Amino acid sequence: MPFAKQHWYVAATTAEVGRKPLGRTVCGEHIVLYRREDGVAVALNDRCSHRGYPLSVGALVGDEIQCGYHGLRFDSCGTCVWAPGQERIPSRANITARPVVERGPWVWVWMGDREAADPAKLPAMAWLDDPNWVTVHGVEPLAARAGLLIDNLLDLSHETFLHAGYIGTPEVAETPFSTRVEGNVVHVNRRMEAVECPPFYSESTGLSTPIDRWQDIEYHAPGCYLLHVRVAPAGSDEGAVHVEVMYAVTPVDEHNTLDFWAVSRDFAVGDAEVDAFLERMNREVVLQDVAALSLIEARMAGAESQPEVSFKIDTGGLAARRVLADLVAVER
Ligand SMILES: [Fe+2]
Repeated sequence: MPFAKQHWYVAATTAEVGRKPLGRTVCGEHIVLYRREDGVAVALNDRCSHRGYPLSVGALVGDEIQCGYHGLRFDSCGTCVWAPGQERIPSRANITARPVVERGPWVWVWMGDREAADPAKLPAMAWLDDPNWVTVHGVEPLAARAGLLIDNLLDLSHETFLHAGYIGTPEVAETPFSTRVEGNVVHVNRRMEAVECPPFYSESTGLSTPIDRWQDIEYHAPGCYLLHVRVAPAGSDEGAVHVEVMYAVTPVDEHNTLDFWAVSRDFAVGDAEVDAFLERMNREVVLQDVAALSLIEARMAGAESQPEVSFKIDTGGLAARRVLADLVAVER
């Protein structure tokens, strides 16, 4: 399957990983996630080495996971430490353990060669550790290939049409933007001046039209998307607020994706009503994208080579496609 694997991918939210094994498929690989008794998150190959039963339907015994079929036990490094009636267990029975790092609301798993795993390869997300910021988040399954979500996120002109009444205003689609690529990072910058304030920002910040609205995208291919937002009263720095909209795009297989999203802000921190509002608004926006992209995926089935026409709005998305294709090609 055409995935770039030498990268970190979000496999779950931190809350999803606990003392009950969680099965997930990432880039076509089945993994099982759980927490040791000391709270450390573990990711193992979700397949018993004996007869292939998924370990995610097994149970935890202390820090070990026990297969539900014949009771084989594996420690958090993937070493098979017990099998019924067997004194000496061959090392062939060990299973792969994947490096894990927790950052913000997410559990990231390294899908590549173990020795290359380095948490420093994750983009800086300083706001996640800053007490002056607060984050709401969620995850939605998407019945579409990851590339469709990346196209979507790199071209925010669709906000005007698909997300009218939430984050879309006429100016998003009409304002020119700049694009640049640095290594595996695609930057798309759109600066709107004296424009309409959409409900997402007017109701959460109290700002009203006209506002200056900046959308600075940093897409770290393959799986991490950051949208740095600044909204402020038009022409003023006074009252400027910032939002970091993050998406972790995790391919499940060639036709399914997990759409992890998070919205961090530096205003109304501690205001539970604003938390609830932004969580609801962003989830609805995500569900609008999920519905649209699922329709496109369904139309693509069996018709992969249908032509597309690209426009100026696609400059960022096309750059992202090239970067992704290069990442996959490098691994081949
Ligand atoms: Fe969208």
